[in-house]
Amino acid sequence: MSDQSVAVGSLVLKNPVLTASGCFGYGLEYDDFYDVALLGGICTKGLSLHPRLGNKPARIAETPGGMLNAIGLANVGVEAFCTEKLPKLRERGVTVVANIFASSVEDFVAIAERLEREDGILAIELNVSCPNVTHGGIEFGKDPRMCAEVTRAVKAATRLPVWVKMSPEAGDIAGVARASEDAGADAITAINTIRGMSIDVEQKKLRLHNRTGGFSGPALRPIALRIVWEIAGAVSIPVIAIGGISTTRDAVEFLLAGATAVQVGTANFVDPCASKRILDGLRAHCEKNGVTAAALVGAAR
Ligand SMILES: Cc1cc2nc3c(=O)[nH]c(=O)nc-3n(C[C@H](O)[C@H](O)[C@H](O)COP(=O)(O)O)c2cc1C
Repeated sequence: MSDQSVAVGSLVLKNPVLTASGCFGYGLEYDDFYDVALLGGICTKGLSLHPRLGNKPARIAETPGGMLNAIGLANVGVEAFCTEKLPKLRERGVTVVANIFASSVEDFVAIAERLEREDGILAIELNVSCPNVTHGGIEFGKDPRMCAEVTRAVKAATRLPVWVKMSPEAGDIAGVARASEDAGADAITAINTIRGMSIDVEQKKLRLHNRTGGFSGPALRPIALRIVWEIAGAVSIPVIAIGGISTTRDAVEFLLAGATAVQVGTANFVDPCASKRILDGLRAHCEKNGVTAAALVGAAR
């Protein structure tokens, strides 16, 4: 059997296939379909300091080649995650990456400090695609200095590796990634969704209550691939790719572009077994070609 393990900085993942935040609940929801512990890891739904109900419906709209979501970061909050979800994930041996978000540096730090007290978390992923209320509502991820500030603060608050998740809407994404690396990020994950809209022509009404939503799915993939390529050339820390990955070939494409691992998002809604199917396919691809997963990383560069 070919070796599927990959090193993400100081961490070794048993394979490079993870699930993307917000597209796999807290991992346990997929228990009936397959053993989630087989995956390289799962990224939790974004966790905030306090529970959130999110936006009013409609929160999802399908589009050709993808979907729009305006969930509004509904989640159980970090405390309930630690006491109700994490013990079950630990019991099942699931590799857990905690995705977190906040509207101030202080709250990012408070969430990281709470997670720091728990066993069974592999890394923290910072969702920086949210507004910084103490800096006029500009998204952390759109500004290299703000992204560096939050990365530095979270790094100082935890011993866990910190992954910073890029917003594709940053003007100079490579610059934001470099600033995050300089501030101590252990890996860059890319990309988050891009804002879009949809109108119901018969009703002459916007489909999403929130008006705009984050666009994800297969149509996002070429954009994500271009960004992952750019970031992989700009930083020396590992890059973890996300964006429209639905098949093993899609995952291999990102590894060849320089990603060390991939995250599967929207594809889980189409096929709850998508991440496992991609993982099995990757193993078969490596065996057929007589390579390890790690040997694919950056091979097209
Ligand atoms: C319904 C939904 C909820 C999401 N929630 C989060 C979230 O809480 N935190 C986050 O960082 N990204 C979130 N994302 C973004 C995904 O993790 C991923 O970056 C994006 O969907 C692109 O990947 P995909 O095309 O494979 O879905 C969400 C995406 C969707 C579709």
